[in-house]
Amino acid sequence: MTTPAAELIGVSQRFGSFTAVDAIDLQIPRGRLTTLLGPSGCGKTTTLRMLAGYSAPTSGRILIEGDDATRTPPEKRNLGMVFQSYALFPHLTVADNVAYGPKMRRVPAPERRLRANEALELVGLAHLADRKPKQLSGGQQQRVALARAIAIRPRLLLLDEPLSNLDARLRVQMRAEIRRIQSETGLTIVLVTHDQDEALEMSDEMVLMRSGKIVQSGAPRDVFPAPADRFVAEFLGYENFLALGDGRQAAVRPEHLRVVPLDTPADGAVALDAVVRDVAYRGVDLLVTLDATDATGAAVRLLADHRADTATGPTPSAGDRVRILAPEARLALLDPTPIPATPTEGIS
Ligand SMILES: Nc1ncnc2c1ncn2[C@@H]1O[C@H](COP(=O)(O)OP(=O)(O)OP(=O)(O)O)[C@@H](O)[C@H]1O
Ligand SMILES: [Mg+2]
Repeated sequence: MTTPAAELIGVSQRFGSFTAVDAIDLQIPRGRLTTLLGPSGCGKTTTLRMLAGYSAPTSGRILIEGDDATRTPPEKRNLGMVFQSYALFPHLTVADNVAYGPKMRRVPAPERRLRANEALELVGLAHLADRKPKQLSGGQQQRVALARAIAIRPRLLLLDEPLSNLDARLRVQMRAEIRRIQSETGLTIVLVTHDQDEALEMSDEMVLMRSGKIVQSGAPRDVFPAPADRFVAEFLGYENFLALGDGRQAAVRPEHLRVVPLDTPADGAVALDAVVRDVAYRGVDLLVTLDATDATGAAVRLLADHRADTATGPTPSAGDRVRILAPEARLALLDPTPIPATPTEGIS
């Protein structure tokens, strides 16, 4: 196996008595895109800042390309970083913004211009090299920030929610752009996000964090259908949780529940009788809220996407008594271990 681009070994970060990052072990594979995903406050930025060298871990070690870099200052790590607020220098042209990193690293002027141009080509903005940042749209500024980080030829490119300032459509476009840049350059990228769709679409490896710990990691194709526990399942959009009656717990997504007439045979699926509480029209589908009873006799609230174009039964409406079918193949079995309470700052 090749040496990972970076490795965190038992890394913790404490602020007073509060543990923001709790003894995590993480390998960043070379030439891949790894995302750190998790809710606000789970320790994503803190982890990225330790990787970049902006804050030293309280304990543990950081290796970069196999060498101990735990105490190496940021400017000696040769990493590119784009923060959520990607402050460009307003008085410099786009080209000079991008050439800034190489300049600080004493790269000679002709080589600097070459690199800036190359990086701007890569993000598709070479034609705007002479503009000032305020003459650019938000998405263009975002790409300049990206070019600026790439121009230093970093060993690792660290991106902290780089798309969060963009509108929804541009954000989706930029996901593909970053993927393209990654595959064209072979760069190792670590991207922080709290958007599960972004992580699923962009990651080679996704790392899910909660309360300073890594709760699950792997390729999206492996993680998505098999969330380890209820927290991960909820985070990935599994809205429905069922006790199966044999001690097993399962999660199932709204698009996999079928709302059918009461007398429909179960046909190998888990079947529950339910009452329709609410039906919300959403264009492509109806979001149906149901009250059901699971195999243990407990009341459960379920959400089902009902697509009129593919559904077999009649369109549900509030008050209907219906049957819910959850195909066995669509059930994600969960680790039944209860999730510990989220630690509160100041309480140890
Ligand atoms: N310098 C600091 N001093 C004290 N607490 C801090 C400091 N920096 C971060 N924290 C706390 O550590 C925890 C993790 O913060 P972090 O910024 O890593 O979260 P995050 O996962 O990036 O969240 P978000 O998605 O909101 O950006 C939070 O509870 C935060 O309040
Ligand atoms: Mg953050």
